[in-house]
Amino acid sequence: MEPDFAALRREFPLLQHKTYLNSGSYCALANGVRAAFDSYLQDRLEVGANWDVWVEKNEAVRTLMARVLHATPDEIAVTASASAGLNALASAIEFSGGRDKVVVSDFEFPTNAQIWHSQEQRGARVVHARRAADGYIPPESFEKLIDEQTRLVAITHVCFRNGARLDIPAIVRLARAKGAMVLLDCYQSVGTVDIDVKALDVDFAVGGMLKYLLGTAGIGFLYVRDSLVRSLHPTHSGWFAQENIFAMDITANRPSPSARRFESGTPPVVNCYATEAGLTVLLRVGTPAIERRIRALTKRCMESLREIGWPSVTPAVDERRGAMVCIPSRASGQLSQELLKRDIVTSNRDDNLRVCLHFYNNDEDVDVLVAALRELREQFAAH
Ligand SMILES: Cc1ncc(COP(=O)(O)O)c(C=O)c1O
Repeated sequence: MEPDFAALRREFPLLQHKTYLNSGSYCALANGVRAAFDSYLQDRLEVGANWDVWVEKNEAVRTLMARVLHATPDEIAVTASASAGLNALASAIEFSGGRDKVVVSDFEFPTNAQIWHSQEQRGARVVHARRAADGYIPPESFEKLIDEQTRLVAITHVCFRNGARLDIPAIVRLARAKGAMVLLDCYQSVGTVDIDVKALDVDFAVGGMLKYLLGTAGIGFLYVRDSLVRSLHPTHSGWFAQENIFAMDITANRPSPSARRFESGTPPVVNCYATEAGLTVLLRVGTPAIERRIRALTKRCMESLREIGWPSVTPAVDERRGAMVCIPSRASGQLSQELLKRDIVTSNRDDNLRVCLHFYNNDEDVDVLVAALRELREQFAAH
């Protein structure tokens, strides 16, 4: 039986007065997450420094995040951002022994290209898989680049600019055949699809909690495959990355045997409270049900857009798109502002309006958006 999505929607007060289609930037706030922020403030007022509880909250996030990804808690680092996890990982990767190549794609969020380019100082050679004529990046574009010199394939799951989803199983197979490792930047997909890092056979996965995971800004995660953790020695480190945090030893660096070795300083305590609550809501709904819901909503949106003569640029094939429908416009920023005047919250990137759907959206949200776009088409559709 599907979850009661109408009842779940009522847990997000914002949705009573806005058509909120912006979860790819920041999720709507759940009542439970707000209560978690309140309980942090209460602890600060009543206890002051409640370290025992704070450590528990950090560990709760680790455990819940492991459940979301079908991993184990020892494979999860809780970080301050996706970028922080990527930097710690990059600091531990060697670009020697005949393997210096990092393959990224044209669909990357800037941070997952910039951080690998920063490793050029340490000998990395970064190459980009290009889009084909239809705008998609098929596995063949990666096949041309992945070879015996490839150390890492570092790719996004869903593109933040156009909502396209890469064929991860096919790309992982190409990497495995050449002995390269794979990092999945799943920030735009985690929480919208069921991600099983073991079934996908990726070595690393990175993301953060402010979008579809229902948490807040200022917290992220890095998954590192258990069999690789102890062979990686990050130089990006700190006291919370040590085997025994409270040894306070200043004579040596003794990294944790778990993925905690990719952490650094004091955890983002208040964000752990919020994220524990957000992930609890998400897991209560269940990612397989969320995936079905979002697929139906994005499909409805794309079909309605075709009917009004303003088709999206997001791939129509279900397996090739994420939770985002992107609509080409000659003035995407202005269009987003026009919609905001009508209490419809969207975002824009490049020449596209971005419409992001989560399980708390419904058919009516899609219909309200499309009715507004019908009126705005003359003025804003791409030429
Ligand atoms: C796909 C993707 N990767 C990485 C990031 C960057 O995350 P952070 O700011 O936590 O480093 C974002 C942020 O929007 C993103 O959408």
